Amino acid sequence: MKAPVRVAVTGAAGQIGYSLLFRIAAGEMFGKDQPVILQLLEITPALEVLEGVVMELEDCAFPLLAGVTTSDQAKIAFRDAHFILLIGAKPRGPGMERRDLLEANAAIFSQQGKAIDAMASRSVRVLVVGNPANTNALIVQRNAPTIAPRRFTAMTRLDHNRALAQLASKTGARVNELRQMIIWGNHSSTQYPDISQATVKGRRANGLVDRQWLTQDFIPTVQQRGAAIIRARGQSSAASAANAIIDHMRSWILGTPEDDWVSMAILSDGSYGIAEGLFFSFPCRCSAGNYQVVEGLEIDEFSRTRMLATEQELAEERGAIKHLLP
Ligand code: NAD
Ligand code: LMR
Repeated sequence: MKAPVRVAVTGAAGQIGYSLLFRIAAGEMFGKDQPVILQLLEITPALEVLEGVVMELEDCAFPLLAGVTTSDQAKIAFRDAHFILLIGAKPRGPGMERRDLLEANAAIFSQQGKAIDAMASRSVRVLVVGNPANTNALIVQRNAPTIAPRRFTAMTRLDHNRALAQLASKTGARVNELRQMIIWGNHSSTQYPDISQATVKGRRANGLVDRQWLTQDFIPTVQQRGAAIIRARGQSSAASAANAIIDHMRSWILGTPEDDWVSMAILSDGSYGIAEGLFFSFPCRCSAGNYQVVEGLEIDEFSRTRMLATEQELAEERGAIKHLLP
């Protein structure tokens, strides 16, 4: 049996936590041979609810669950963590944009960045989910200067999965017959879901759909999907977000298939002309716990304009929280 990995999860008593923890404990994130210790963080008033979640975890008798701890102190929850899933934050309500949460949530992420720096394993891998996820990831990363910047990511995998589902439905294909979807930029309504590289059953997706569907239907549907779910459910997405968290971490750790890639928001190194120092979603290939931006893709004028718009928004978000960036 492998040694257990330590997985810290914040906001563990929230909606996403409830859809996520049981799947991690069942082995869906790290594989069916990898024991896990869950280190759960909540704010003090939610600790009682969290105890109920822990009781349910116990009652599942998961063979891979090697331990569960709870705390309201980030420095305790992050101690020696190999993986940290930063979910705990305020979600948006109807009529809000994700950037409206910046002020409410930014302080959480600056404090948690410092706690990661002080307490986590030096080889920790961090995924930021709490919104606005890209800019929160920047706050966390900059507050954890002794951890390599490559170990911080933000989640656009939900957008990637949404885009796959829309294209599969339009072309009458199954999702696993699609390859090479891309989400560029921010997890926000300026994101650019790009099918210019995508294939459906080996054929170029661009040749299967018309420009009007792309601009009037596909792109806005993916960009606005989170808001549509909030309107319908009265709460933001949770099960699909938890599913995307599993997918993101699984790809990062266990790798991507030879003929495909995934979308991950990572610290820009200037690839595709995107300003350095922003957490921007790129197509990435993963192998053995590492990721690489897929380089050399041709970017036409249509794509470039949309990539610049989402880059501009991220630069503005960074400007709004610059006092939190050491
Ligand atoms: P929720 O309100 O159901 O749960 C959030 C939990 O976080 C609560 O239990 C709360 O007590 C806890 N929390 C708040 N501050 C905390 C702190 N400082 N430390 C630890 N825990 C804290 O919300 P949810 O639906 O689970 O969503 C959580 C976040 O994820 C929101 O910001 C939401 O917008 C975001 N989200 C992101 C994506 C994505 O694709 N990136 C998808 C869905 C939701
Ligand atoms: C989503 O995309 O569903 C989440 O980011 C929640 C939201 O605020 O839209």
